[in-house]
Amino acid sequence: MNKANLKILITGGAGFIGSHVVRRFVLKYPNYRVYNLDNLTYAGNLENLKDIENKPNYIFIKGNIVDASFVFEIFEKHQFDSVIHLAAESHVDRSISDPLVFVRTNVIGTMNLLNAAKELWNDDFKNKKFYHISTDEVYGSLDEIGLFTEKTSYNPNSPYSASKASSDHFVRAYGETYGLPYVITNCSNNYGPNHFPEKLIPLFINNIINKQPLPVYGDGNYTRDWLFVEDHAIAIDLVFHKGKNQETYNIGGFNEWKNIDLVKLLCKLMDQKLNRKEGESEQLITNVKDRPGHDLRYAIDANKINKELGWEPSVTFEEGLSKTVDWYLNNKEWLDNVTSGSYKEYYKKQYL
Ligand code: NAD
Ligand code: TYD
Repeated sequence: MNKANLKILITGGAGFIGSHVVRRFVLKYPNYRVYNLDNLTYAGNLENLKDIENKPNYIFIKGNIVDASFVFEIFEKHQFDSVIHLAAESHVDRSISDPLVFVRTNVIGTMNLLNAAKELWNDDFKNKKFYHISTDEVYGSLDEIGLFTEKTSYNPNSPYSASKASSDHFVRAYGETYGLPYVITNCSNNYGPNHFPEKLIPLFINNIINKQPLPVYGDGNYTRDWLFVEDHAIAIDLVFHKGKNQETYNIGGFNEWKNIDLVKLLCKLMDQKLNRKEGESEQLITNVKDRPGHDLRYAIDANKINKELGWEPSVTFEEGLSKTVDWYLNNKEWLDNVTSGSYKEYYKKQYL
């Protein structure tokens, strides 16, 4: 890839992971033009990018990837060389109550981007790249042992993971059929600043701050492999520049936690930071009805990206979690803004 003056379309840049990727590219590569296309759904928030919004190499475009003619129009207008595609509906619980919106955004939205790239790059793919950001959840669920490798078969169990799996297949199919240069990464659970408080860690941080119940699904013996979001952004930067086309890379934190153990660690850390009595926040733990089709365990074998590209997480879980809690404690206004309005309705429907 000629990297001198790239014009990169990043989709979903106002969301959790996207905002860290946009910031990294805007600050690290002043010669690139970074276009952030985002529809600003409940999960998109331009506050996440306040610090870089006036940079000369940053352009925000508000729009919906489900709108094919709009996607074509912006490709034609801006002549992107590459796409880093993060826009998605991303929460499993929402996919259980409203699966169709996941098909629209995650499958059709991805198709629209693929079609625009294929047509407007005019089948001349020199110096072009379509980078699709996916999840480890496409592989389904693991028992107590084993890890997901890039060769593990897809076996999605939730409407969210089924929609992501479908989009991954289309990206790969466009590579095979039309020669579109693509790369896919499948990452484990992220955590960090700007995470919308519907997912486990930010929801529980918010509830601990407000001394509200901590709703642990089922017995809490479900395992996830947690990665600090900035380490994901570093991996995306590396794969974008050094990853091989037509390849998939798994990204993970080598950091498995059972939910209940993670929640106890978080309670302990927050009791210290909030000067509360030891054990106070643990009292808030409440076992609630399990999630339907709840995947038992996710764990990534990240050896390929480690060996081929030299990537590894830069922070330990304790460091990352401490930074994350500090961020939420120092950004009360952000938290209050995103938990007003429609969040209250969502919370009531999901938990009360
Ligand atoms: P998020 O929900 O925080 O953000 C998604 C962003 O996409 C939001 O800014 C939203 O406004 C935008 N968006 C949604 N629908 C859109 C549409 N139709 N048109 C334009 N923009 C739209 O999600 P996230 O957690 O940052 O995840 C980003 C990507 O990374 C997703 O593709 C997700 O599947 C993947 N991923 C997430 C995790 C994780 O732990 N969060 C792990 C692995 C992979
Ligand atoms: P989540 O953050 O939604 O990510 P994912 O389902 O994509 O892995 O959930 C992480 C784990 O925490 C998962 O096992 C479900 C569980 N969980 C709870 O126990 N309670 C909650 O309120 C939430 C949101 C999640």
